[in-house]
Amino acid sequence: MHDKQLQLEVMKTLEGNMPEFISSYLTPIEKIWQPSDFLPDSSSDNFRYEIEELQTFAREMPYDLFVTLIGDCITEEALPTYESWLMDLDGVNQQENVGWTQWIRAWTAEENRHGDLLGKYLYLCGRVNMREMEITTHHLINDGFDIGTSSDPYKNFVYTSFQETATNISHRRVGTLAKQSGNKKLAQMCGVIAADEARHAKAYKDFASRIFDMDASGMMLAFEDMMRRKIVMPAHLLRESGQKAGELWEHFSDAAQRAMVYTAQDYIDIFKDLIDEWKIDSLKNLNDKAERARDYVMKLPDRLQKISDRIATPHLPYSFKWVKS
Ligand SMILES: [Fe+2]
Ligand SMILES: [Fe+2]
Repeated sequence: MHDKQLQLEVMKTLEGNMPEFISSYLTPIEKIWQPSDFLPDSSSDNFRYEIEELQTFAREMPYDLFVTLIGDCITEEALPTYESWLMDLDGVNQQENVGWTQWIRAWTAEENRHGDLLGKYLYLCGRVNMREMEITTHHLINDGFDIGTSSDPYKNFVYTSFQETATNISHRRVGTLAKQSGNKKLAQMCGVIAADEARHAKAYKDFASRIFDMDASGMMLAFEDMMRRKIVMPAHLLRESGQKAGELWEHFSDAAQRAMVYTAQDYIDIFKDLIDEWKIDSLKNLNDKAERARDYVMKLPDRLQKISDRIATPHLPYSFKWVKS
């Protein structure tokens, strides 16, 4: 494995840029949107009318798209898992509210608004069995996750670069589909969440780029390792009441594929985008092992493409307990 000492030094050096990272990639609290900016105001005379409108549009949403939105919301609601995971990274010291700790807290605080907004929307929309949805969220946080990064910051930044891009895509697509059906309010909600995810994705990609500059071989090996084991989604242990951990995942992922919100093709495209972003083909000063890792990574998108071209999206019918019949 790569040199742990060097890795800690790299994390320390990067930490020196924290004020710049925070001002470039996060938005001050006074300026950023809050969920209530996009939700009906319960003290307003218009409240009933707005709820009626919101519920009409929600009823009309195609089943797969609606289920995908619920699953995306639950994924956001499992934020405690992600924050505690990041706080445990090598090079992060939670005792002081500076450096990486400050980043993780500020990132978490921004992310927290996503589940908050979508969760309130879903509560109001009249089409969700809230108790079932809450049980899934409860299980998901209780089950935690294993994304295969251990406490290695390099691997985690590969993961978060990938994941923030994936969530940008999925929220953006739900927003676009909502807009096409005239559901402007939901489109706006998904749009502002997607914009946050885009900023976060840029941040993590930048952290990783800078690590490539300082420890190219170490970062290359981390990238290879993550792609070899495949990037699992943060909600991979999803379940409904009465199920075992992970039992619902495939049904959710199939629904997202059918709704064209997040597909196997997106996985490949994000991977290629990271290869370009980090200029993997022109990295210099790689050791032998890292050269072999680069070869593997550069060839992987074509291999994945061949496999994915052969797999059709399953049309297994499944009825989620989350949705009111
Ligand atoms: Fe999010
Ligand atoms: Fe995110």
